[in-house]
Amino acid sequence: MTQATTIDGKAMAAELSAEISAATAKLVANGKTKPGLAVVIIGEDPASQVYVRNKKRTAEACGFNSVQHTLAENVTQEEVLALIDDLNTDPAIHGILVQLPIPAHLDELTVTQSIVPEKDVDGFHFQNIGMLTSGNTDGAFVPCTPAGCMLMIEDQLGKDLSGLNAVIIGRSNIVGKPIASLLLKANATVTICHSRTKDLPQVARNADILVAAVGRPQMVKGDWIKPGAVVIDVGINRIEVEVDGEKKMRLVGDVDFAEAVEVAGAITPVPGGVGPMTIVMLMSNTLQSAQRA
Ligand code: GUN
Repeated sequence: MTQATTIDGKAMAAELSAEISAATAKLVANGKTKPGLAVVIIGEDPASQVYVRNKKRTAEACGFNSVQHTLAENVTQEEVLALIDDLNTDPAIHGILVQLPIPAHLDELTVTQSIVPEKDVDGFHFQNIGMLTSGNTDGAFVPCTPAGCMLMIEDQLGKDLSGLNAVIIGRSNIVGKPIASLLLKANATVTICHSRTKDLPQVARNADILVAAVGRPQMVKGDWIKPGAVVIDVGINRIEVEVDGEKKMRLVGDVDFAEAVEVAGAITPVPGGVGPMTIVMLMSNTLQSAQRA
């Protein structure tokens, strides 16, 4: 049995990033405002700090106006909403993102819904969710991780997934549900699994396209995978491993890569798969917003 193709998310993202930079340069040359992305981070979550730093770096590399607002852990909801209000009306800003999770004393729903849909580059506003679930993706912002996953799936299987079974493990609003909408729009037959699903491995074995988005390190084993399947691993988990008697932290996905690579047809690695694609889709959404403005 030959090994699966490793889907190079980093290379795909670099290509897209170059296209976005070129489109940005063209926009600016035509006298338009350069795309502006505002990222709001609240508190000190170390993983969030890494993600936000990467987003800022990529935005700058694309030639965007990149603004970061760092708010204290104990900021009040009124202060957060006042900042979002300012950004909503700022003509230099085309995309607003509040990095999740936010501290427990803040109401996530109120905060995410306070971003105007036209600048909601995360695609979390009910208007964007509604457009996506009703199949009207053209005027909507599609959440970045699902959008990136779809590009990688299309790259392997084409745009029309008629006759293919897609199984998604995880029913989150950020990944599971929106990717189900996208796969359905592409004519796949979609199953969403979660913690209450009966005999998950058996359901997974039906998948021509398997998307793992649960946040449990290396949960999906080789014998859960249909031979030749396209496996998209959305998980980013930090685990402790021992290397030469020394304890080290390592990033792993929700899929046991070493096992899966022996069975799948194509698979995304962690790191270097979905992660870089997510960030570049944020840039794509921000560019789109600037072009519409
Ligand atoms: N935290 C983890 N993923 C995401 C995401 O896609 N958007 C935001 N805003 N926060 C996140």
